[in-house]
Amino acid sequence: MSLSWAQNALSVDEAADLLGVTPKTVNARIRDGVGEDWKPIDNLLASNDGLKVFVRGHGYAAGDQVELKGVAGAEARWRVEAVDGDALALSGSAGVELGAWSGARVRRVLTIRTQSLRRADLGRKMRLCHPDDIAAIQRLTVDPKDLSARRLSARDTAMPVETPNMDTAERGGIFDDKPFYRIGKLPEYVFAVINEMRHKARVAGLDVIDLGMGNPDGATPKPIVNKLTEAARDKRNHRYSASKGIWRLREELTKRYKRKYDVDLDHETETIVTVGAKDALAHLSFAVIAPGDPVVMPDPAYPIHQWGVVMADGEQWALPMPSPEEFLNQLEDVYRTRSKKPKMILVSFPHNPTTQCVDLAFFEELVALAHKHGTMILHDFAYADLGFDGYKPPSILQVPGAKEVAVEIFSMSKSYNMAGWRVGFCSGNKKMIHALARIKSYLDYGNFQPIQIASVIALRDCEEETQKIAQFYQKRRDVLVEGLHRAGWDVEPPKATMFQWAKIPERYAWAGSLEFAKLTLEKSLVAVSPGIGFGPSGEGYVRFSLIENEQRMRQACRGIKKLLAD
Ligand SMILES: Cc1ncc(COP(=O)(O)O)c(C=O)c1O
Repeated sequence: MSLSWAQNALSVDEAADLLGVTPKTVNARIRDGVGEDWKPIDNLLASNDGLKVFVRGHGYAAGDQVELKGVAGAEARWRVEAVDGDALALSGSAGVELGAWSGARVRRVLTIRTQSLRRADLGRKMRLCHPDDIAAIQRLTVDPKDLSARRLSARDTAMPVETPNMDTAERGGIFDDKPFYRIGKLPEYVFAVINEMRHKARVAGLDVIDLGMGNPDGATPKPIVNKLTEAARDKRNHRYSASKGIWRLREELTKRYKRKYDVDLDHETETIVTVGAKDALAHLSFAVIAPGDPVVMPDPAYPIHQWGVVMADGEQWALPMPSPEEFLNQLEDVYRTRSKKPKMILVSFPHNPTTQCVDLAFFEELVALAHKHGTMILHDFAYADLGFDGYKPPSILQVPGAKEVAVEIFSMSKSYNMAGWRVGFCSGNKKMIHALARIKSYLDYGNFQPIQIASVIALRDCEEETQKIAQFYQKRRDVLVEGLHRAGWDVEPPKATMFQWAKIPERYAWAGSLEFAKLTLEKSLVAVSPGIGFGPSGEGYVRFSLIENEQRMRQACRGIKKLLAD
């Protein structure tokens, strides 16, 4: 018979007894990971293929996780790719700058402990300790020499320890407070902190200008709404629809590709309708990624780009992207130096959050690399229509041969102010589209049919409306850029998207992006997104969304001016 968590738990004293330490030490150890295991780094070396850390004789093994803590308090966690004598090669670390890490310390971070850290009240004396934890801690607090002999892999350390008197089904189940397998892999949503603050401020009656989430504030064009209401009245449209989307909508998408990009697509085999771009992003990863498959993407990125891969059990290889050219250089390095090749490249231009744009030559290089190495490409083209000052974002499918390796996602959310309608598309490579269609045939019956019918009208008749939407954002961009300049904050105006990516002014650089975003909310009543929420390379930046009208944008800038002048 299985026992519940409480029945099976030990008191802290009992746990301490088992571990041979005083209760205080047990708690401290659990609370801050492996406090005593901090090791000084002898040296750090950034090279083309990542970061090398020199630590003498600490017995690390490939697969271990290592956490670096910079002198400025910055933290990053890396996986040990390889051990060469006293040097560890860390994965995903090409962007770590030496300066920030001088004086860094390395410690072994064991996944089981990281899980323990999530228990908010574990440090309290009252807390009971689960035998799984104790067994895991005992396993992992052995002398480093023994550890190296035993070669525990990261997977070993993440696995709960077998205990004879517990049902397997109960672990990570509803009666204990361990996170479920997939949930345990997803970090706290950084934006939630700002969302919560914004909510509280509004409840308190404060007028917060919300430039946080990229949620379009404009109305969906009238002809689309009219068609929806008309189609909704027809009972034939109330039934289940087709999971891959009605053929008329897919056909209309192929016409759009022909008209705008001179790209030919077969609506039966090379397109699928999705429940917004997010559906395509998440489920395509499930469809085409096997456990451990590496997927390369820029850092920072729209969060589902990185975490969709993690949810699918793939390996997230995020390459810092100071510029698209630099991203390409690093990608070439990845192919040249790593034994494992990326299975997929996931990019999105115009880019959220950095607003960086590319020309067709960039995609030509990407497609050539993918052809050479047999890699898939997923291009998220959510901002296809939001180019400014005459800039027309290219489609990756314009590159000859792109369809052999790539798919492209398009979304109705931004181009037609249809974010709440949840309509997107995935087009291009037949094998990838077929895989996504297969997964989706199990998951959904497609969007509500009147929404799909109204979307036909959007694609067919609303090109002009789309251009107006882009012009709206362009004007707001101008107002924001000018206002920020007046506030003494120099920012580079974006060429596309609905965002402004801004380096935190020197004066507040110490704060980091989350603290600075809190400050702008508290002191200026302006909500912005902290860059760290988009990945480690987003630190030092905040993102403004252009989703309030020009007058409110000016008001926001006045508030920010005060903050910067204080
Ligand atoms: C790059 C990117 N892709 C996809 C999405 C979400 O699109 P959808 O509303 O179609 O799911 C967003 C939304 O902000 C985005 O920025």
